[in-house]
Amino acid sequence: MTPPKHIAIIMDGNGRWAKNNGLQRLRGHEQGAEAVRGAFDGCLEAGVDFLTLYAFSTENWKRPKLEVAGLMKLLERFLKNNTAELVEKGIRLQVIGRITDLPNKVQEQLHESIERTAGGTRLTMILALSYSGRLEIIDAVRSILREVKEGHLDPAMLDDTVFSKHLYTRYYPDPDLLIRTSGEMRISNFLLWQLSYTELYVTPKLWPDFRKEDLHAAIEDFHKRHRRYGGL
Ligand code: FPP
Repeated sequence: MTPPKHIAIIMDGNGRWAKNNGLQRLRGHEQGAEAVRGAFDGCLEAGVDFLTLYAFSTENWKRPKLEVAGLMKLLERFLKNNTAELVEKGIRLQVIGRITDLPNKVQEQLHESIERTAGGTRLTMILALSYSGRLEIIDAVRSILREVKEGHLDPAMLDDTVFSKHLYTRYYPDPDLLIRTSGEMRISNFLLWQLSYTELYVTPKLWPDFRKEDLHAAIEDFHKRHRRYGGL
């Protein structure tokens, strides 16, 4: 069976995992970063082409300063420690979101990792950072208005395909499967446009406990779905 081409994941439950284990929230995020490795390994095994991970939303800036700073450091360290492995495994790193909101050091590390992994052809791993689905749509509308104003786009030509070309995700297909951990039944401002026909899979497992076997189970479940795209 052909695997889903694109899997998106809302990695939820790091805080609860830490609490359950009597640890600080940041320890939960650290274990969450480890779980990311299982996700990309699982995608490589299954032959998935794109993996998008919701790593930090624009709303997450509202968390306590110490947690935000810890998450940023963790991200920088994760990239520093794992870029060589990404290169070796043929994984190309990409990002979506308001990247310029991130601390300079994180931005620099991101650019370095993106450049070093640019030749990866087995899997594209897209990190959503300082990301908001609504803001992405607003940014797309701004970009469309600019093109109209400059006379490069006739508003009558605006359709689904043209609109998609103005989103951060214009280089990637829409996700076939969305996985959310920790049992919450919400989209949480993630890929609002792109998830229109995506199959949803929610597992009660908390993200730090998610392993590549769980990814395979989600894919197996996906194969049982009958995707109709509004038709019969
Ligand atoms: C949600 O758990 C998770 C986040 C807000 C951050 C996700 C970050 C990671 C998985 C680690 C770093 C990522 C990479 C790519 C290295 P929560 O804190 O909302 O959990 P809770 O709902 O149980 O409190």
